[in-house]
Amino acid sequence: MKRRAFLRNGLMALGAPAVLPATARADVFLTPRQRRQSDDPIRLSSNENPLGIPPGSREAIIGGIEDGNRYPGNSRRALQEAVAQGHGVPSNAIVLGNGSTEILQMGVQAKLHPELRLVAPAPTFEDVFEYSEPHPWIDLKPIPLLPDYAHDLSAMEEATKGAPGPVLVYVCNPNNPTGSLTPVGDVESWIRRAPENVHFLVDEAYFEFVDSGSYRSLDQLAVENPNVVVARTFSKVYGMAGIRLGYGIAHPETARVLQAFAAGTNCNHLALVAGLAALNDGEWVAKSVGANLESRQVTYAVLEELGLEYLPSHTNFVMHRISGDLRQYINRMREAGIRVGRPFPPMLEFNRLSLGLPEEMERHADTLRDFRRRGWI
Ligand SMILES: Cc1ncc(COP(=O)(O)O)c(C=O)c1O
Repeated sequence: MKRRAFLRNGLMALGAPAVLPATARADVFLTPRQRRQSDDPIRLSSNENPLGIPPGSREAIIGGIEDGNRYPGNSRRALQEAVAQGHGVPSNAIVLGNGSTEILQMGVQAKLHPELRLVAPAPTFEDVFEYSEPHPWIDLKPIPLLPDYAHDLSAMEEATKGAPGPVLVYVCNPNNPTGSLTPVGDVESWIRRAPENVHFLVDEAYFEFVDSGSYRSLDQLAVENPNVVVARTFSKVYGMAGIRLGYGIAHPETARVLQAFAAGTNCNHLALVAGLAALNDGEWVAKSVGANLESRQVTYAVLEELGLEYLPSHTNFVMHRISGDLRQYINRMREAGIRVGRPFPPMLEFNRLSLGLPEEMERHADTLRDFRRRGWI
């Protein structure tokens, strides 16, 4: 058999098309920026980083393939130490996760108990509720946000009282989908006075985007207090949502317990080396935050021009009012080539819009103006 025919037959035997479509072939070599020039919808739906992954992480992944046959003990330790150093905490206070959502999952599983109560703001990032789904006996207490979209800490604290067993409190600060802040000092005071049976999962996924002098991480408190876990991610400012990497910060004993709920070696070598390279890139965070700020201004400007209320954001997304049916709005945006965020009941008069590149937000702004001309918003 001639070499070419052998290759074609071999690929067909593997179920692959003999000839890759031109688009698929070309796509492999495109940078994220070039790929966006194709007909794909602009993704303003999942709070990703439109700049892509840091160049050093890309190189680390390519170089890391060389060691793909080895278990990733060394890269795990290296990342754990680098993360710990960044937070000024011991490395046994760091638990790595396959994304920070795995930390949230471990956090729920580690507290499983026949009388577990889960207190969380509403609306918020849904994952803690989803991780409780296989355990329908968990007593869920969603607590509506305050009129300024901060967590209603008093009502949340009240909801922990009288619980017959342990209580897990989810704090999302800044909050997804509202992009709003809850005063950290108030969260900290509550944690310090909370009784032994109340545990806290503090999600700081958007930490780097926060623009407020009074905001800070609860990382140090987490190391001191065995009832607190702080979750952080490489998916947002570091642009690694598809690579899957996150971590928890906790008291070393709590970290050891959480780890027992993770798969044995839960982060792959390529994610670990990419994470390490991202941390070593001294400019990436500022670059991402800068692009995000520019995009935020473009978006605020058009929303103000059209008189559409928005919630000032401390994240890489903006929650803004639409008029009309949200599902129809999402579909119309999709037809216009823009994918926007999903519904977050009960805020069904608002759409969550992730911030892309400034030029993508200009296109979104033009689409909004067009919707206004048509009387759709
Ligand atoms: C508040 C919050 N926490 C966690 C996550 C999940 O992040 P990861 O990709 O690290 O699992 C998200 C993702 O959108 C989020 O908004």
